[in-house]
Amino acid sequence: MFDVYKIREDFPILGRKVNNTDLVYFDNAATSQTPNQVIDSISNYYKKYNSNIHRGLHSLSAEATSQYEESRSKVREHFGISQNHEVIFTSGTTHGINIISSGLQSFLTKKDEIIVSAMEHHSNIVPWQMLCEKTGTNLKVIPINNDGTLNIEEYKSMLNPNVKFVFVNHVSNTLGTINPIEQIIELAHKNKSKVLIDGAQGAAHLKINLMELNVDYYVASAHKLCGPTGVGFLYGKSELLKSLPAYQGGGEMISNVTFEKTEYADLPHKFEAGTPNIAGVIAFGTALDYMNSIGFDNIENYEKELLEYATEKLKKIDGVKIYGDNKQKISVISFNIGNHHPSDIGSILDQFGIAVRTGQHCTQPIMDFYKIPGTVRASFSFYNTKSEIDLFIDALLKASKMLG
Ligand code: ALA
Repeated sequence: MFDVYKIREDFPILGRKVNNTDLVYFDNAATSQTPNQVIDSISNYYKKYNSNIHRGLHSLSAEATSQYEESRSKVREHFGISQNHEVIFTSGTTHGINIISSGLQSFLTKKDEIIVSAMEHHSNIVPWQMLCEKTGTNLKVIPINNDGTLNIEEYKSMLNPNVKFVFVNHVSNTLGTINPIEQIIELAHKNKSKVLIDGAQGAAHLKINLMELNVDYYVASAHKLCGPTGVGFLYGKSELLKSLPAYQGGGEMISNVTFEKTEYADLPHKFEAGTPNIAGVIAFGTALDYMNSIGFDNIENYEKELLEYATEKLKKIDGVKIYGDNKQKISVISFNIGNHHPSDIGSILDQFGIAVRTGQHCTQPIMDFYKIPGTVRASFSFYNTKSEIDLFIDALLKASKMLG
C-alpha cells in the first residue's frame, strides 16, 4: 500500500524549515532527497568497515569489496543487464558520457556523422562537440516539435550509412518528455549505428530493462534515484567496452605494468582507475533497494497523479505557459508566467520555502527553440504531496501579484 506520509518519514530533510516555513522540495530533477536508509548505509561504511577495495587481504577490505561488488549486482539486476562486468561505476552521468566520447576518438573519422537531439542536456552535447573537434566528425541534431517531443520523421531522414552513433536522453530534464527510445534504437540499429541513452532523468521514474531495450550504452546517476551525489554507472555491451580504449590510467585498471608495456585489466576494472567512491557505490545499491521496496509501478502511478493535479491547477493561473505540454512525460513542469523573469518567480517561491529550479537547466538549445531566457521548473517525486502543490500554486499566485 503506497502511503506518501509514511514514506516522507524516511526523509529527514523534508521535516526542515526554510525561511521559517515548511520546506516544499520541487527540485527533484536536479537531485532527489536521501532517505535514512541511504544515509545510514554511508555512515555504516565509515563507522564499521571503511577500507580500500580489491586491494587488501584483511577482513575490512574483504567486507568493503564484497559490499561494493554486491552493489554492482544490484545495478545489474535492477537495470536488466546480463553481466556484472558490463556495469562500470562512474562519478555520474557526465563521467560515463566522457568515457565513451574519449574512447570513440580512435573510431571516428571526418566522413562520419553522429546524431544528438535538440533536447539534450549540455552534458550530452558538449562532449560530442569536443569529440567532433578532434576527429572532424559531423554533429547532426534531431529537431524538436512545439509540444516538446522529438521530430522522429526528421530523425528517420537523417539516418544514412555515415551515421555511426546516436546519443539521446530517455527523458528531458527540462520538459519531462519521455522519448520513444525503443523506436530510436531500432531505427539506429537498422542503420548499423550504435546508440547511447542518457538515463539521468528516466531512471528515477521509470523501470527500464537494458537487455530488452538492446541499447549499446546507457548512463545514469545515483543522486537522482535517492542515492548519493558523485556516483553513477555506465553500461556498455561487453564487446563494445572491451574494444573501447581505457579512459584514465592508474591503479587497479591494469593487469601488468612495466616501463616497456602496460596491459590493462579486464572489465569492469579497466574503466575504474583509482580508489572509487566506495561508500557512494554501496549506498547506491541501498538506494535501489529502497526504491524497489516502494515499487516503480507505485512511483510511476503516483507521480502521474501529481503531474496531472499540478498541471491542471497551474493552467488556471493567468498568463501561464507550459513548455512541453504533451502526453508522454514524467512529473516535470517547465513554465513561465507572462513576461515575469523565471528567477524573480524562483526567488519569491524560495521566500515561501519552495525550492524549484529556474533558468536554462543546462539546455540552452531548448530555450533558443522557444525563444525564452529560461523557465521555472517544478519537478515532483514520489514523496511530494498534493497539499504541497496547493502551497506552490498559492505562492505562485502571490508571486504573480507581487510582480504586477
Ligand atoms: N541535470 C540536473 C537538472 O536538470 C542538474 O537540474
